[in-house]
Amino acid sequence: MVNTGVRVAVIGCGAQGRNHLRAYAKYPDVEIAAVCDTDPDRLAQTAQDFSVPSAFADYRALLDSAPYDLVSICTMPVSHAEMAIAALQLGANVICEKPLAMNLEEGLAIAAAAKQAERFLTVGFNMRYLPAAQTLKRMVADGEIGQPVSSKAWTLATDIPWWGKHYVKRISGGGVLASTAVHILDLALWAAGNPQPVTASASMDRVFPRKRASTAPSAEALAEFDVEDTFSGHIRFADGTWMDLSGGWGCDQPEYSYSFELVGDKATVQFAPLRIVAERDGIPVDITPPSAVVDKTGMHDWPASVAAEIADAVDAVRNERSPLVRIEQALTVQAIVDALYCSAETREEVPITLPALNQLQSRTV
Ligand SMILES: NC(=O)c1ccc[n+]([C@@H]2O[C@H](COP(=O)([O-])OP(=O)(O)OC[C@H]3O[C@@H](n4cnc5c(N)ncnc54)[C@H](O)[C@@H]3O)[C@@H](O)[C@H]2O)c1
Repeated sequence: MVNTGVRVAVIGCGAQGRNHLRAYAKYPDVEIAAVCDTDPDRLAQTAQDFSVPSAFADYRALLDSAPYDLVSICTMPVSHAEMAIAALQLGANVICEKPLAMNLEEGLAIAAAAKQAERFLTVGFNMRYLPAAQTLKRMVADGEIGQPVSSKAWTLATDIPWWGKHYVKRISGGGVLASTAVHILDLALWAAGNPQPVTASASMDRVFPRKRASTAPSAEALAEFDVEDTFSGHIRFADGTWMDLSGGWGCDQPEYSYSFELVGDKATVQFAPLRIVAERDGIPVDITPPSAVVDKTGMHDWPASVAAEIADAVDAVRNERSPLVRIEQALTVQAIVDALYCSAETREEVPITLPALNQLQSRTV
């Protein structure tokens, strides 16, 4: 990278804020100018750990203090929209953690602010940067899979993310769907060429505290838990393809996993580990490239994928281009998430209507 001194700030110094900071710290041409957290101990510790010169308890004071090229928003979803809009209006590009917002309405307000400010807003869907995901995307683009027909995507988590309030709906926007399954939903959509969703239906339940009650860190956490921890959904797309999406936080699995299967008219892809089986003279043959980086779960490169996502955003700032994860794609994910929640409540298939997303793009590649 050319040293052009990209100035960044990180809002939220919890689990993911520190992951962003670790990634920024890898790049000598990045200046971590400021951090922000409402928790004073966490703020002081983070500023010290990453040698950050300015620390703020109030994100507005941080934004007012200096111009930033890039702001990471790593708070819980309840504050994503107000922080993202404020940062964009002050001329910063933004990398906002997933999920983009509490709902599509907030997401559209963020997109409008990005367009008006002529800055990008990208979302932390770091799974796209896993080496196996990159290989898969290349193979789909090269036509190895043929036309996508259908996909299945799922996340099997063995535990509840107790370290933050991911289990309190008014703060997180939802449970395993909004907090966890969005990763694999985004990855499966991207692999399939981002088809336009038209309807969604879902069923949801809470197995907590029938399961995992003993893992609650406090009586307060036990009482506050009000999100779905188990769901299954079906999404139809305008091109006739469909996706089955499911997830759980209380799965009886030996380990945490994210997986999907994409069926094309030439081959079927499984992820992860990445496995591609294609028809050759009527016989299914494994054509997975030997060079594809695989492991048992495909998750071994998670921190590296966050670092790659950060490097992409920094490079996008410098070269005035869009990062890999574009806001219109994050809005599509949000629209699907909203429709799945609505369907679980109404017990009906829910139509999905999105505004002309290309009009919302703030930057093009
Ligand atoms: N991509 C990934 O791999 C990944 C992993 C974990 C979390 N996340 C996402 O990152 C976001 C944060 O999750 P987390 O697990 O780091 O949560 P967390 O609770 O560990 O951290 C959130 C931090 O934000 C701070 N905060 C809350 N309100 C604030 C405000 N108004 N101003 C400044 N700071 C404030 C809290 O004090 C806390 O330190 C969520 O959107 C989550 O879904 C992404």
